[in-house]
Amino acid sequence: MCGIVGYVGPRPVADVLLDGLERLEYRGYDSAGLALGRSGALGVFKTDGRLRDLREMVDASGANVGAGHTRWATHGRPSILNAHPHLDCHGQVAVVHNGIIENYVQLREELTDQGHRFLSETDTEVIPHLVEEYYQGDLPEAVARALQDVQGSLAIVVLHAEHPDMLVVARRDSPLIIGLGQGENYVASDIPALLPYTRDVHVMENGEMAVLTQEGVKLTDWSGREIKMNPYRVNWDPAQAEKEGYEHFMLKEIHEQPRAIEDTLKGKIKGSQVVFDSLDLPVDRFNKIVILGCGTAWHAGLMGRKYIEALAKIPVEVDIASEFRYRDPMVDEGTLTIVISQSGETADTLGAMREAQRRGSRILAITNVVGSTVSREADDVIYTRAGPEIAVASTKAYMTQLVCLLLLALYLAQRRGAVDEGAAAEVLDALRGLPDQVREALKTNGKVEDLAQRLQKEQHVFFIGRGLDYPLAMEAALKLKEVSYIHAQPYPAGEMKHGTLALVVEGLPIVAIATQSALREKMLNNIKEVKARGADVVVIAPEGDDLDEVGEAVHIPRTMDLLMPLLSAVPCQLLAYHTARIKGCDVDKPRNLAKSVTVE
Ligand code: F6R
Repeated sequence: MCGIVGYVGPRPVADVLLDGLERLEYRGYDSAGLALGRSGALGVFKTDGRLRDLREMVDASGANVGAGHTRWATHGRPSILNAHPHLDCHGQVAVVHNGIIENYVQLREELTDQGHRFLSETDTEVIPHLVEEYYQGDLPEAVARALQDVQGSLAIVVLHAEHPDMLVVARRDSPLIIGLGQGENYVASDIPALLPYTRDVHVMENGEMAVLTQEGVKLTDWSGREIKMNPYRVNWDPAQAEKEGYEHFMLKEIHEQPRAIEDTLKGKIKGSQVVFDSLDLPVDRFNKIVILGCGTAWHAGLMGRKYIEALAKIPVEVDIASEFRYRDPMVDEGTLTIVISQSGETADTLGAMREAQRRGSRILAITNVVGSTVSREADDVIYTRAGPEIAVASTKAYMTQLVCLLLLALYLAQRRGAVDEGAAAEVLDALRGLPDQVREALKTNGKVEDLAQRLQKEQHVFFIGRGLDYPLAMEAALKLKEVSYIHAQPYPAGEMKHGTLALVVEGLPIVAIATQSALREKMLNNIKEVKARGADVVVIAPEGDDLDEVGEAVHIPRTMDLLMPLLSAVPCQLLAYHTARIKGCDVDKPRNLAKSVTVE
């Protein structure tokens, strides 16, 4: 989950690295550092602060190769000593690393016995010492030998003072992408770092390493056998990775949702049919569907269950990826496993996917990143076309995951003959109208900002809903928690009276999501129950539904019940955003979190 950038070429190296790291700060931001290769000596700069601190201390003169890193701490607290790059005993070898070296304790003991001196508490530091141990003038050879000794996941970039024209990079289970230029080359842990410079990339496979020079890239396996590169052109627009006048990426991404939905829908509806290019599922083979994901992706999965059961009439289980793997899951050839992951690199999700695969299940991935590990290992892929999501808190990716799940539910239903033409046409019409309705829902911004002013002083907030509004309440609560640090708890509204009502006291803020027409009366009763105990209720409801008697209302456009959560998500996201902003929180980079969680 750390961010890595490497560059070799004629541009000012430190600027390219710092610019790339800034674009990757969402991957981790506990500390940062970079190494610059100059003839005979490496320049190494580190900070336990933010990138702006690093920028001020770097002396960039004379370098034409370098690597940088932003860290999300796993082994060892955030500090200058633990920040990357890590060095060997003589400051000749510098390494930046993403991943976890599982056998580092043993390697560290062995290297210490051989006389190596360690300065940090990190697992990474064994790598430069191993390279030092094996180095006899040939850097790629020394790195390849060091790689034979380490177990665990890694994406690394290695520099050596005697080779100020070269980067050696390698990958196993942590993403690393080579960016191809003219007379210059790049490497990064994530595509947005490369977008201003090149869109021609090779996504490294596990077990690949490469030597990058100005002249070119030599790709090999870890035993030195040459491999042909497999470059492709990224279709993300570089501007999508810029704030474009918005104060934060989160706000920009909330506003990008109408466009993201349009892009995601493109080419997937033909006449009255849902079509996915290159997807040909043997739908009759499946007697069960399992959906896996973490955090927001899991919440999307909970919504997906309701869509698939309602439309395609196939039983669905939804599991948190980190739990699924360890509970001996009942999954086999008759199960379709749907894996949801924005980044396509979440370690828990990958682990769960591989477990389902091992048990014979067919894997269908819903992901936002072309070339990600999930997309490459799954049998089938549906891409959300959200564009790069930079803010740690997921918004447009969640929205497009819901769109894909709804389309998939309809696709399965049509193939199984579980839905009649009229009902399918109604969903498709509603989907076509969704981008404009989301634009309308964004107009709740002013009202939501006022609510956020009130909420920012609170310590606890409840979100309640029934039916489809309950998984949305879960997502709304997660959003508020992660960016504003206010404790937010979602409850199925009908369940309050079985225990949680005991927590309701005078003035407790409750956001009631009440969009499901079939459950309206029941929901109203539940709202009255909390009101009667003094709760301060705000209701999110479709326009025309006058709920003033039970609480202040935020009205969103009306559509069919199935799609209402996609509209109520908008004020919930805005509420989290404004509350965090007013409180002065670091909205795009909430404390302790990172965008792409590549450790278990
Ligand atoms: C919350 C959030 C996380 C991610 C989760 C899975 O706003 O973004 O909960 O949803 O870490 O990430 P992906 O989808 O990349 O697998």
